[in-house]
Amino acid sequence: MYSTSNHKWSMTSQDMPLKKKLFLYSALVILVFLWFLGVRNRGDAERYEAMRQTLDTYEMQLKESKEQMAYTLRLFKKDCDMWYADLPVIYAITPTYARPVQKAELTRLAQTFMLVPNIHWIVVEDAEEKSRLVSNLLASCHLNYTHLSAMTPPDWKRKAKEPNWKKPRGVIQRNMALQWLRDNTVIGIDKGVIYFADDDNTYSIQIFNEMRHTKRVSVWPVGLVGGLMVERPIIDSTGHIIGWNSAWHPERPFPIDMAGFAINLQLFLKNPEAKFSYEAKGGYQESILLKSLITRDQVEPVADNCTKVYVWHTRTEAVDLVHEKKLRLKGKQSDDGIEV
Ligand code: UGA
Ligand code: MN
Repeated sequence: MYSTSNHKWSMTSQDMPLKKKLFLYSALVILVFLWFLGVRNRGDAERYEAMRQTLDTYEMQLKESKEQMAYTLRLFKKDCDMWYADLPVIYAITPTYARPVQKAELTRLAQTFMLVPNIHWIVVEDAEEKSRLVSNLLASCHLNYTHLSAMTPPDWKRKAKEPNWKKPRGVIQRNMALQWLRDNTVIGIDKGVIYFADDDNTYSIQIFNEMRHTKRVSVWPVGLVGGLMVERPIIDSTGHIIGWNSAWHPERPFPIDMAGFAINLQLFLKNPEAKFSYEAKGGYQESILLKSLITRDQVEPVADNCTKVYVWHTRTEAVDLVHEKKLRLKGKQSDDGIEV
């Protein structure tokens, strides 16, 4: 037995091929090295802790991005649910400019639009270039939008103490949006309505229902404008417009605020001259545009024969930044690294 087993052993040891031996030795060396590393690392508590934390962070990020993904999917689904192929599109045109309240104004407006089906928001920044702030905001609200920029010529920019009515605002921005519509929608095909939605007004979602089926130009009351509680078209008993109650320059061909009318897209496309102009007298921007499209008796009163107010010409007070200015004198700012 003994000799046999001895024989067996010697057979195994001596006859093992060199390659196999080498392999076994290297495997042993690697195992020892790994064991050594393991022991060493077990002692290195700091490094272990750092690795654990990294792992936890990854895990958290994965969870967050999963939630974010689910949220984004819900929003996209909502967008699809809010789009009806046969409903006219509302092209809301908003000129906007950088100032402390800009993000607040645009957020309020975006979140109103999120409740409106078939809306296409055309935002035109009064700036040389599109800003990061507005780009981020637009990307985050999941609306259909077009983002443009056109800077008001310096001569037409209102100076700090200049009266409001002296220089019109939003002229080249709105014209740029109108040109975009001429370039990107098709005569005889696209169904839509154009509305000039300034960034500081207050809109009830009801106004979008009222304007959506405008045949030529629809009109309605606007609250808190022209020095009145409400500026509105006057309608006779047969539902026809007989004038406006405006007190500010009532002699204007259309004594109406920008927020008080919407234009049928096809009517606009068929009138290539229709646009705003710096040549117009103060307060006549609305009139020159509307005059190129219709006559006064052709307007369509909506909002229950102009007896309901669904839009208000609110204006946001300039913010008091007295302490911010003091901080900046010291080279600091409260919004360092945070978008407000
Ligand atoms: C009134 C009307 O409601 C506006 O539609 C009209 O453009 C303006 O008068 C005018 O006279 O031109 P108001 O409240 O005085 O409005 O004007 P803002 O709200 O200050 O400006 C109208 C729009 O133009 C806003 O969306 C605003 O963000 C934008 N804007 C204003 C610029 O793009 N750049 C500016 O320098 C100022
Ligand atoms: Mn305004």
